[in-house]
Amino acid sequence: MNETVSFGYEEVAPEEKEGRVGAVFSSVARKYDVMNDAMSAGMHRVWKDKFVRRVKPRAGEQILDMAGGTGDIAFRMEKSGARITVSDINQDMLDVGIERAMERGIDSLVWSRQNAEELTFPDRFFDAYTIAFGIRNVTHVDKALAEAFRVLGFGGRFFCLEFSTTQWPGFKDIYDAYSHHLVPRIGKAIAGNADSYRYLVESIRRFPPMPEFERMIREAGFKHTRVEPIMGGLVAIHSGWKV
Ligand SMILES: C[S@@+](CC[C@H](N)C(=O)[O-])C[C@H]1O[C@@H](n2cnc3c(N)ncnc32)[C@H](O)[C@@H]1O
Repeated sequence: MNETVSFGYEEVAPEEKEGRVGAVFSSVARKYDVMNDAMSAGMHRVWKDKFVRRVKPRAGEQILDMAGGTGDIAFRMEKSGARITVSDINQDMLDVGIERAMERGIDSLVWSRQNAEELTFPDRFFDAYTIAFGIRNVTHVDKALAEAFRVLGFGGRFFCLEFSTTQWPGFKDIYDAYSHHLVPRIGKAIAGNADSYRYLVESIRRFPPMPEFERMIREAGFKHTRVEPIMGGLVAIHSGWKV
């Protein structure tokens, strides 16, 4: 049997997924930030602020923000004086991030195109690794986790912010209806692109539940793993240590 991976609700060959995910993010890059606000009613800002509070970046630390896209997490972390590298596989997303950094007068960030599955950074280079709303788009999640482990030094910390499945009764049904029916329509109205937003919703549903993803993080070698569900698990912060 040939290996297949999920692309939203479809099963595709691994090499096809990378190209299709690339096309999704290239097509939404210019509208990505405004769409995040529209789809989450601004809530993604609150989740990202909380995430960065958990990471606790410190001056002088080397931090890799993987799948960093247009820089939302990096902009929040650079205020600490940490040295941040923003990496993403998609140059269109990084280009929007670089423009945003210039508009804000931020010149301390390093922008580096990278595939999370095969990083070009040396072993043990970083003190912390962050990935926000990125890991579910990666073709082989286990390879990305292994690379995160490799590039972290001993005592290094891993933090992942990702959508999951809310357990709040009632809210789950409303959210399901909203995400499947309204999100693609909002995507069409604002970004002129329903299909990309349909993929983004479907990819959330296909991502492993919190206990399973935590197990994968442990299998990559991380210790003291923790899951912090937000809004009943609609979003979750996963963390672990390389010790
Ligand atoms: C939903 S965006 C998140 C961007 C940003 N972290 C944020 O929270 O706003 C997901 C990002 O993952 C990136 N991505 C997908 N597959 C990747 C891979 N294999 N390696 C690195 N980045 C990847 C996409 O290009 C996209 O920029």
